[in-house]
Amino acid sequence: MEFSVKSGTPEKQRISCVAAGIFETRKLSASAQLMDDASGGYISQLVRRGECEGKLGQTLLLHNVPNTLCDRVLLIGCGREKHFDLKAYHKVCGMVAQLLDEKGATELFSCMTELPVKNEEGIAWKISHAVRATEHAMYRFDQLKSKKEEVRRPLRRIVFSVPSRRELPEGEQAVRVGMAIASGMTLSKDLANLPGNICTPTYLAEQARALQKTYRNFKVTVLEQKDMEELGMGSLLSVARGSRQPPKLITMEYSGGDKKQKPIVLVGKGVTFDSGGISLKPGAAMDEMKFDMCGGASVLGTLSACAELQLPINIVGVIPATENLPDGLATKPGDIVTSMAGITIEILNTDAEGRLILCDALEYAKKFDPEVIIDIATLTGACVVALGAHPAGLLGNHHPLINDLLKAGQTAGDRCWELPLWDDYQEQLDSNFADIANIGGKEAGTITAACFLSRFTKKYHWAHLDIAGVAWKSGKDKGATGRPVPLLMQYILDQIESRSVTK
Ligand code: BES
Ligand code: MN
Ligand code: ZN
Repeated sequence: MEFSVKSGTPEKQRISCVAAGIFETRKLSASAQLMDDASGGYISQLVRRGECEGKLGQTLLLHNVPNTLCDRVLLIGCGREKHFDLKAYHKVCGMVAQLLDEKGATELFSCMTELPVKNEEGIAWKISHAVRATEHAMYRFDQLKSKKEEVRRPLRRIVFSVPSRRELPEGEQAVRVGMAIASGMTLSKDLANLPGNICTPTYLAEQARALQKTYRNFKVTVLEQKDMEELGMGSLLSVARGSRQPPKLITMEYSGGDKKQKPIVLVGKGVTFDSGGISLKPGAAMDEMKFDMCGGASVLGTLSACAELQLPINIVGVIPATENLPDGLATKPGDIVTSMAGITIEILNTDAEGRLILCDALEYAKKFDPEVIIDIATLTGACVVALGAHPAGLLGNHHPLINDLLKAGQTAGDRCWELPLWDDYQEQLDSNFADIANIGGKEAGTITAACFLSRFTKKYHWAHLDIAGVAWKSGKDKGATGRPVPLLMQYILDQIESRSVTK
């Protein structure tokens, strides 16, 4: 989709459609009111007759409204004005695009950006979120369908209304930011939706290398099995043993900032299929374990968005990528391995493999001398039980970092929620035979998983996002969500902002 911004009055737009909001009960938004005035009350008359109450998601498509220059006016119900929040805003922005795509309107002047969104007033925020919501609503994963559903006259261009010419530069920048985040999410979704037989560790490495070709200031290195052996990554390699696919440790360095500036390091779990290994998972919904690389995919998406915007900051992405499968050579419960950090691990359950690959990646990441390290992983089913599908789980060892992430999640509409990483839980990882066990028993599974990682990140400001509940949807809308790319991007944008203020 093409996006742009313009200041101008809605009734004067010579375009296939103008979209404007209507609140419950029958309250026209400012632009809807302007068009109503121009048309001599044509719109309000229809509304009074009961054509549209303004309930959230209700729509009314009108043609040839008197004294307007557009072919169509789309009124979209926004619900109660004082309840109109981020979620409702995304919903209506997405619906407008979907509906017009089906109706043959190829160009839209959208007045959605004038609507008052609860807790959010800025035009830049509204534009970049409208771009994101549109791209999200239009997303299809049909690469692998032999017959694609073609739309005959698709919606091609959306022009967002800004209050005056003064807001044009800010609006254009918001379009760029929104598009970069949306493209990062799309990349992340595409990789995650691809099946495990296509999206292997090798495939992920190729995708990272492709980014290096596309962008300036972007460098990719891929460690092979023998490199990992030399570095002593016994924990990561223990997971890969059961698979015929070679593991890869993918590193992407985006250097848009000052050379002296320490990077933000993102480490993403990249298990391209998690069968559980010898501790085999039950069969039901096991296909969804192709999504076990969503953490890694979000790191790829975030780095590509940073590079697309050529942000003035240094970001490193590290993705340990492997399959977790059972085989004659696979790691068995009770096996003990030595991690790169020298900590020995008793593997009591081969299905707790995420932490086993992350601990070596976190140790490796130290060579970049990080400002902060954030890992992102579909790590525990327990997180889905605790928090459901709304926030990601957040744990870490540095409160300012935790707070920055909580705040970024709010702004981005991609929230996370802190769980306690108290020392009280650490003893659940005690092992009779090695330094630590890889599981911590039935209780507090998300926290003990984070406790495990915390043993490898003591010297750094570190946070962990457990995205098991948010990275994909099950059921009839099965598919990846692109989360937490928006959260990570907002965090990075906030960091750039706060650094430029304190300079
Ligand atoms: N990838 C899974 C976590 C997962 C499960 C995410 C279901 C989303 C939905 C992870 O590797 C795993 O299997 N974790 C185990 C840990 C347990 C063995 C301590 C789990 O959560 O059951
Ligand atoms: Mn597992
Ligand atoms: Zn897993």
